[in-house]
Amino acid sequence: MPFAHATVLRDEVVQLLRPSQGKRLVDATLGGGGHAEALLEAGAEVIGVDRDPVAVAAARQRLGGQRRFRALEGRAGQLEALLGASGLLPVDGVLLDLGVSSPQLDTPSRGFSFQSDGPLDMRMGGDGETAAELIARSSQRELEEVLRELGEEPFARAIARSLKHDLPGTTLAAVESVKRAVPRKAWPSRVHVATRTFQALRIAVNDELGELARVLSALPRLLRAGGRAAIISFHSLEDRAVKEAFRALEGRCTCPPGLPICACGAQGTFRVLTRRAVQASEAEVRGNPRARSARLRAVEKLA
Ligand SMILES: C[S@@+](CC[C@H](N)C(=O)[O-])C[C@H]1O[C@@H](n2cnc3c(N)ncnc32)[C@H](O)[C@@H]1O
Repeated sequence: MPFAHATVLRDEVVQLLRPSQGKRLVDATLGGGGHAEALLEAGAEVIGVDRDPVAVAAARQRLGGQRRFRALEGRAGQLEALLGASGLLPVDGVLLDLGVSSPQLDTPSRGFSFQSDGPLDMRMGGDGETAAELIARSSQRELEEVLRELGEEPFARAIARSLKHDLPGTTLAAVESVKRAVPRKAWPSRVHVATRTFQALRIAVNDELGELARVLSALPRLLRAGGRAAIISFHSLEDRAVKEAFRALEGRCTCPPGLPICACGAQGTFRVLTRRAVQASEAEVRGNPRARSARLRAVEKLA
């Protein structure tokens, strides 16, 4: 089956990362290789990384014939060790296109979807605990916090209680458990009643915020001077983390006004390239509704 995933903000990523011959860029969320392909077309060398072996295999099939491409299985949060071990650091660009790919969502046996039955798994890679195991291990209070913080679920308490009682092993059993917990008249009209629960469980199972934080803190060591990082997020918590980390990298001088040169040492070694997050055009959203929530931010390392 082909790896069908519509690449989001493809041209905008190319503009910001400025790929060209002689530059080495890392696509740390390789997926089906849509962004990687665009970067390769512009002449750059591309190292693709994905924690999902299925994605790595699909990208190798699509792009493996190209001399300037290689794909590695691994986690973005471990980029420094992964690339450092092969002598590939520093690089000229890092790309993250966060979240899940369409094939991950659409394959029932991966357990991401509330629309088809499968094991309640949700792991992007093969390691760590599944969503079913996470529910079984967590206390009701911990589960409630996951649902409230990562899913912004207003019925977090009732759903956590229901999931702990039912201990679902399959996606559809989890959906039934959510449905029983939320009064029928409170079911949202525009999205499925289990959307927020599934999102929260997925983010927790894959430690997606932890992964993002680890990449952000490694950026100064991953990039060479003049190198750029571009990050696409689909969740407000992720976008906020990116925005705040970029701001901190940039640093803000706190010297009293009038000093001829900065004496506080706060001036960072990065420059933010996107004062406001870049969003998909109306035309892109018409063709790919998933692009509507995409937010792209970028920084450049100065020295
Ligand atoms: C939205 S898809 C990327 C799609 C790709 N940009 C394209 O255009 O085809 C996200 C991919 O990133 C991977 N991924 C998410 N978080 C990751 C992480 N922390 N480390 C490595 N891969 C990750 C997922 O397995 C998935 O294949």
